[in-house]
Amino acid sequence: MNMHRAAAAKTGRKEAPADGRSGQAAFFSKELLTWYKANKRDLPWRANRDPYRVWVSEIMLQQTRVDTVIPYYNRFMDKFPSVKALAEAPEEEVLKCWEGLGYYSRARNLQAGARMVMELHGGAIPDDTEAVSKLKGVGPYTTGAIMSIAFGRPEPAVDGNVMRVLSRYFCLEDDIAKPATRTGIEKLAKSLIPKGEAGDFNQALMELGALVCTPKSPGCLPCPVMEQCAGRLAGREAELPVKTKAKPPREELRAAVIVRGSGELEGKILVRRRPEQGLLAGMWELPHVLLDAGKRDWMRGEGPMENGDVAERLGRMVLEETGLLVRPAGWHSDAEHIFSHIHWKMRIFEADLGDEEAAALASFASGGDDDPADAGGAIARRTVAEAAAERRANYAAAAAFGSNGSTDEAGDSRKAQDGQAVSGSEHYRWIGPEDMQTLPFPNLFVRLLRDYWI
Ligand code: ADE
Repeated sequence: MNMHRAAAAKTGRKEAPADGRSGQAAFFSKELLTWYKANKRDLPWRANRDPYRVWVSEIMLQQTRVDTVIPYYNRFMDKFPSVKALAEAPEEEVLKCWEGLGYYSRARNLQAGARMVMELHGGAIPDDTEAVSKLKGVGPYTTGAIMSIAFGRPEPAVDGNVMRVLSRYFCLEDDIAKPATRTGIEKLAKSLIPKGEAGDFNQALMELGALVCTPKSPGCLPCPVMEQCAGRLAGREAELPVKTKAKPPREELRAAVIVRGSGELEGKILVRRRPEQGLLAGMWELPHVLLDAGKRDWMRGEGPMENGDVAERLGRMVLEETGLLVRPAGWHSDAEHIFSHIHWKMRIFEADLGDEEAAALASFASGGDDDPADAGGAIARRTVAEAAAERRANYAAAAAFGSNGSTDEAGDSRKAQDGQAVSGSEHYRWIGPEDMQTLPFPNLFVRLLRDYWI
């Protein structure tokens, strides 16, 4: 059944066929727009209709609240004020500017999209729905938002908030987790757009969803369209929308290590950069390994022997990936982070770098360009560095041979975990607190390392 007719049938209201829209629908469009014009929030991306500003804001606002986005948005626009500035920036700077907002693939895709605009459209976002929809990271929602807000085109912009509002107003019972429901609601939303008012109307829908028709306990009394809200009239506003529950995030037990430098590396710790693909691509982190699910009891903190095993495993992993020998130094803390589909439960250990290793690493960290005035030290360092390199090579060879000596019990070698080979230590760096200003870390590690360095 057509969505208008379904809604009209439910409320016993007659359709008004004159303009192809029901009276209930016409009421909604008119009242909502009037309400928005009187009540809209003064938000930074509403200062003008520059398509780049609209694009950045809509990407940031996905899965993120307006209050959280505002300071990020302002900083981002200061740093990358144009498509060109964003396209030409080092990726690490873009990720750093996004640090704390989460869903970092949004930032990487946004930059990839900006590069497409430079290459394909001479740096100007085109007034063309199809071309915009082809930009990296731009789905139907963002296409609709850019086309309507920046260019005034009558395209719908339907996200979870909009589906909630329309499901309630028209008392629609279809499961909004289903793609077919979204498609139906997009058609309905498009039909509701008042002529020449697409940008304001779409933002009005978002605004109503954010301020009034909220997920829990909707505030119907101040709602501008309550009078004809079929969900409310049926007393069902709190039950709608129907949405099947997503699977809970898969739990992953992980052990991470803070390797403390010594000697020339005193005060520094060892971090690594994640691969270019996959979860948290390109972000920095403490080295960590996935543990098998059997370690659940261990995570409750009642297994000191297990802690010892795991700390040793971490040592092996560091050795394998960097060639460095570290000494486990005990438990540091526990932390967790929930991504959309994975729940990391992480136990963090400390470990120390042996003095010999520190000397080797001073050379490794500086790329081996030893001070010629310090020839004796340089030779000593090179000798130890060579030993470290040899250990790394041995581990790599063992891994290639199929030895499980280089793969932890959960099959979480870096290769298995991330689907791409990691060629050893170039992904690793020694950092001090000052490096936290430039390297992008996921929140979990930002918090951990800030606490560590206080
Ligand atoms: N949520 C998503 N897009 C938005 C916008 N343009 N204004 C306010 N909230 C939003």
